[in-house]
Amino acid sequence: MPHSTDNNSAAQQQPDKKPEVVVHPVPSRLLDSQQCPTPHITSMDEYRRMWKESVEEPEKFFGNLARDILSWDKPFETVKHGSFDNGDVAWFLEGELNACYNAVDRHALKNPDKIAIIHEGDEPSNVRRITYGELYRDVCRMANVLKKLGVRRGDNVAIYMPMIPETLIATLACARIGAIHSIVFAGFSAESLLDRVADCGAHIVITSDEGRRGGRNIATKCIVDTALSRQEAHQVEHVIVYKRTGSEVPMMENRDLWWHEEMANARPICSYEKMSAEDPLFLLYTSGSTGAPKGIVHTTGGYLLGAAATVKYIFDVREDDIYACMADIGWVTGHSYILYGPLTLGATTVLFESTPTYPTPARFWELIDKHKVTQFYTAPTAIRALQRLGDKWVEQNDLSTLRVIGSVGEPINPEAWNWYNEKVGKGRCAVVDTYWQTETGSIIISPLPGCTPTKPGSATLPFFGIKPVLLDPSTGKVIEGPHQSGVLAISQAWPSMARSVYNNHSRFIETYLRPYPGYYFTGDGAMRDEDGYIWIQGRVDDVINVSGHRLSTAEIESALNTHESVAEAAVIGGHDDLTGQCIHAFVSVKPHIKATEGFDKELTLVVRKTIGPFAAPKRVYIVNAHPKTRSGKIMRRILRKIVNGEHDQLGDISTLADQTVVPSIIEAVHGIKQ
Ligand code: PRX
Repeated sequence: MPHSTDNNSAAQQQPDKKPEVVVHPVPSRLLDSQQCPTPHITSMDEYRRMWKESVEEPEKFFGNLARDILSWDKPFETVKHGSFDNGDVAWFLEGELNACYNAVDRHALKNPDKIAIIHEGDEPSNVRRITYGELYRDVCRMANVLKKLGVRRGDNVAIYMPMIPETLIATLACARIGAIHSIVFAGFSAESLLDRVADCGAHIVITSDEGRRGGRNIATKCIVDTALSRQEAHQVEHVIVYKRTGSEVPMMENRDLWWHEEMANARPICSYEKMSAEDPLFLLYTSGSTGAPKGIVHTTGGYLLGAAATVKYIFDVREDDIYACMADIGWVTGHSYILYGPLTLGATTVLFESTPTYPTPARFWELIDKHKVTQFYTAPTAIRALQRLGDKWVEQNDLSTLRVIGSVGEPINPEAWNWYNEKVGKGRCAVVDTYWQTETGSIIISPLPGCTPTKPGSATLPFFGIKPVLLDPSTGKVIEGPHQSGVLAISQAWPSMARSVYNNHSRFIETYLRPYPGYYFTGDGAMRDEDGYIWIQGRVDDVINVSGHRLSTAEIESALNTHESVAEAAVIGGHDDLTGQCIHAFVSVKPHIKATEGFDKELTLVVRKTIGPFAAPKRVYIVNAHPKTRSGKIMRRILRKIVNGEHDQLGDISTLADQTVVPSIIEAVHGIKQ
């Protein structure tokens, strides 16, 4: 078995032994019907009964849930089909539905004037409110535009856009006509964008002239132009450009089209496609241990059910709630928890264009106060950053409308959890530390607001349908006893799990289903305590999580290797108090090349340009050689320990071909001569 639970630095954040933990009961306010709507689930007995049914009788449980939460054009007959062994998991076969109908039409029909989207623009004064009726008409217009350009069901459309309502409109328009959307995070470089556009074979890219974030303009169209300049590498025929800032951008004749011009001529009515439950809804590229990013395939029925059911039960959302998820739409959290989850339930979703500190560190809290937000969802990095800036920012606003506050993307340290609970939640809200991944489609481990006692730092208990196990990485056997670490795996299929890697089903099977046969392998290490609570310990593979952004060491290494002077590069994740992990790169140069001053900065720039600014290494060390085994494999474990200050506990280094490299690396990192 290839994984070791001390492989990655985040694994060291959580103790292996029984941690000193404080248990927080459900805040009494949440269970007082005078103060709050009664949560969907109010006792652990009820949770346990439902969970048991969901894993023992998934057909019954999810059949009922899917009929209850979603609207179907044709009912399904087979609730669950296939297995991990065959890699052919399917849910709700024979059923037909449309994700856009579920997220927009049915609410627009019932309540057209209800606000669907509150757009909090980059400038706090710039707020747009879009009703379900307006959303319906704009989505129909865009669907007609796409159809006019020849997009048909099953075609891929790439979306490279900032955090504006038109991004949701474009995405929903794809879903409406059965096109598969592939949103690329607008922080990715031209090269990364091209890789993704080329891999999915999109004929259409939707973008904006520029984006706005933190008072600065982001050159989205320019990046699209650069990406598409290698004409032989892609199949794009048209680029639709939304005018966000109005800055002058070049438009290529016959290829580029203005959003507003196309929309002006499009009819606001467009029938939706009845999709099979198993038809792909979208692709989302994500990093793995090796190779190019994978286009994770999510299908219509199971994904939509997972997104909506978790918003209902984990955020306890009601139709009249104002739900605010601060993620970017370019990551899976944005897909499930800005767009599909809340809108499928007919709630109001807040779309935030700015940063937590623009124009001041009070931005999040002002947003909650201004829009009377009831559920708030962000990442530990943002919580830690705001905690550092002092309590005064959070104290100036009325946050009393909040009922549930969530965290996602990386392990949350107890200090940050406590601050979030006390200063933001004022001890009156449920804090939900939600664990999941791009591949799981929706949250799989989390407390439920009305029943689960919480322990800071633990994502607590599995959601419905999720049967987690810890496996011994060396034997693959199930670990039963408490307080032992293992790799986290899931032992049966759930509706919103990814179905495949685009154009590469065998890679899907190899990555997730083969490492531990009979299980879905998450790539994370975890520990379970005496109450069955799960403590996520971080990745056990070569994936690094920086501020909740998922990156592979291999991707960063290959970016560094493109520099002509680089002989070899090794990248590892080190611990970082703010961002959880940060990137450390060890680079050796080719013979006869001398690394001059500023070379590390040059290499950082290469990574920024190749992948995107968020992938930039925090430190680049120029080394004479890497610690390698006799067979030439770089021992990253040693680099990791050195970076994390554990160079006096390197363990057995006798397998190194040349042990003398170690002192020189310690010197490069810590400046200590050994
Ligand atoms: O390592 C886990 C970490 O984020 C990884 C998934 O990243 P991505 O696919 O980009 O999705 C992020 C948003 C769901 C996981 O393998 N992770 C996510 N949530 C948590 C977490 N680690 C600890 N605690 C969490 N709550």
